[in-house]
Amino acid sequence: EKGGYSTFMEKEIYEQPHAVGDTLLGRTDDTGRLVLDDMSISEEQLRDVDRIIIVACGTAAYAGMVAKYAIEHWTRIPVEVSLAHEFRYSDPIASERTLVVSISQSGETMDTLMAVKHAHELGAMTLSICNTHGSTIPRESDAVLYTHAGPEIAVASTKAFLAQITACYILGLYLAQLRGGTFADDAQAVMKELHEIPAKLEELLGNMDRVSEIARFMADTRSVLFLGRNVGFPVALEGALKLKELAYIHAEGFAAGELKHGPIALIEPGQPVFIVVPGPGTPHELHKKVVSNIQEIRARGARTLVIAEDGDEDVVPFADEVIRVPKTAPLLAPLLSVVPLQVFALQLSTAKGLDVDQPRNLAKSVTVE
Ligand code: BG6
Repeated sequence: EKGGYSTFMEKEIYEQPHAVGDTLLGRTDDTGRLVLDDMSISEEQLRDVDRIIIVACGTAAYAGMVAKYAIEHWTRIPVEVSLAHEFRYSDPIASERTLVVSISQSGETMDTLMAVKHAHELGAMTLSICNTHGSTIPRESDAVLYTHAGPEIAVASTKAFLAQITACYILGLYLAQLRGGTFADDAQAVMKELHEIPAKLEELLGNMDRVSEIARFMADTRSVLFLGRNVGFPVALEGALKLKELAYIHAEGFAAGELKHGPIALIEPGQPVFIVVPGPGTPHELHKKVVSNIQEIRARGARTLVIAEDGDEDVVPFADEVIRVPKTAPLLAPLLSVVPLQVFALQLSTAKGLDVDQPRNLAKSVTVE
């Protein structure tokens, strides 16, 4: 049932082109317009949304963080991301024009379910992004947008994460199209880019030998840091989470801009740091800013493991290792840049002889508060 792979996690990592492709399937008509047939919240109500709150836990919450950047950019609707257990008990503010979007692979996470129920009590609309048909959270929600990642068995989430990000993009683009703002016309162009992601994932996954080798040589490492900016920030957080979950190594993700406000004190000779570099085409010169972060930490002796777009030569002088990912639109980059970090965690865990699919102390779906 592992289809020739040694673990479910490895199999699921390699299924990611399908997880994204299948989640995109049937969401556009012949003219390229987005259509959400099963959307059970009316177009009028969706046009009226003045605030979105995303509630989720763990990896799903990082998908939500990626979504915030994209949905705000495309729709100009303010988006907040709240860990479900924090949302529930923080006296949140919501109205009938608030759309509370829950993200959950299992659809059974108790913390997320409680947040959805609370959103209802507050009068908000609720939409669930979920991978499991007929599970509790979609049943308790006004509408559901299913991800089609297929069953995810490994405790640590991989393909569900990519499918969740994809579904969030679909939602954002759909809202943009519906509301007819300045971005509405571009929605189809972004969808086109999105449809190219599965082939790019295939290419990327065929190219993981060096990452695996780096991981195998790092079995004794005690701490790894991850830096990212903009949509690369949640990717850094996810890279760190994967490493904690799977390899029991102390790992932390930071927003690269925070470096000088504290974390740079952690840099000492030999400290491994992954840096998720935005593509050179990213607005606000973010590429240049992150390249200078790499330079700063390298000057202090960090071992820099750089994830950069194909053809980005600016990173080369400051990188101990360059891990290449195919080019795409800046907001879609997480679908590619997170993959080497998943493979890294998988291989490091394997090198340590640990149980990749069933890490200690963790459960696939946490059905208690
Ligand atoms: C955690 C899992 O307990 O729950 C994570 O270990 C997962 O992998 C999180 O991201 C949320 O789960 P779900 O099913 O709500 O997406």
